[in-house]
Amino acid sequence: MARKVTKIGVLTSGGDSPGMNACIRAVVRTGIYNGLEVFGIMRGYSGMVEDDIVPMTTRSVANIIQRGGTILKTARCMEFLEYEGRKKAYDNLTKRGIDGLVIIGGDGSFRGAQTFSNEFDIPCIGLPGTIDKDIAGTDFTIGFDTAVNTAVEAIDKIRDTADAHDRMFIIEVMGRDAGYIALHSGVATGAENILIPEKKTDINHLIQSLLEKEKRKKLVNLIIVAEGEEFGGANELSKIIKGQIPSLEVRVCILGHIQRGGSPTCMDRLIASRMGYHAVECLVEGKHNVFVGIVNNKMNYTPINEAVKKKQRINEEWMKIVKILAT
Ligand code: F6P
Repeated sequence: MARKVTKIGVLTSGGDSPGMNACIRAVVRTGIYNGLEVFGIMRGYSGMVEDDIVPMTTRSVANIIQRGGTILKTARCMEFLEYEGRKKAYDNLTKRGIDGLVIIGGDGSFRGAQTFSNEFDIPCIGLPGTIDKDIAGTDFTIGFDTAVNTAVEAIDKIRDTADAHDRMFIIEVMGRDAGYIALHSGVATGAENILIPEKKTDINHLIQSLLEKEKRKKLVNLIIVAEGEEFGGANELSKIIKGQIPSLEVRVCILGHIQRGGSPTCMDRLIASRMGYHAVECLVEGKHNVFVGIVNNKMNYTPINEAVKKKQRINEEWMKIVKILAT
């Protein structure tokens, strides 16, 4: 029979993402609804190692659903990579009687959870909190929708000035080694080219198409580049293009961390609330060491060990759509 959990901890880890607060709120309130004591662990795994753990009440999560960032703060914790750090973390949890964990973060955070749950007997539930949308086993990650909408708003503004000056812009978006933010924001803004790490770029073909566009006086071109793309980002790509077509006026804009901030969209608040609720249900039902996602509008549970191995694949159809629509 599954062991009954009584006290649970929640933490946010890795890069923050809009919607993490909505998710913390859901975990805390669902936990309390189920008669559990809930603790907030500060600064990701660092709070576990350094014993920075605070009791949470329904009021501690009031008025945060609309806020970006994370009230629990976040960090990438080096000590947790070592067994000694994880043992310290375990001792800090057990002395409070914490017998279940909800980890909101990206794939790096799940790798930490995987190791921890293999070594120590505390059930861990992972929730995908990342703007990168680079985790398999879910159609959505908390924060991606907000990040893409932020990028779209910025790119639309850039198009206005690009159009006024008849200029080409290379715009770099985040995503670490995933191209989803680039792909979605590029399609939604009618970008002429989208370069992502998952697809090899034929640079000669790109140069030829720019020359051809120059010939027919189509000078406004927006190229969206994922930061993890093979040429090393927007600045590097700009140098290559300027080297080949010196007459072209090119400007570079790197959107950077603005994509991580801001009030979460309705979509991110909804999936964060739903996932947070189900994470606690998992612990109550005795599920352990699973990653909670949503696939085809249904909850989907993947063993954490499996979740860390897979990346989300790019839908090939999008690449075809980009080619056809951006002429
Ligand atoms: O994983 C989220 C993310 O924003 C990536 O898109 C980006 O590569 C990275 O984090 C940036 O990390 P940092 O804030 O530590 O520079």
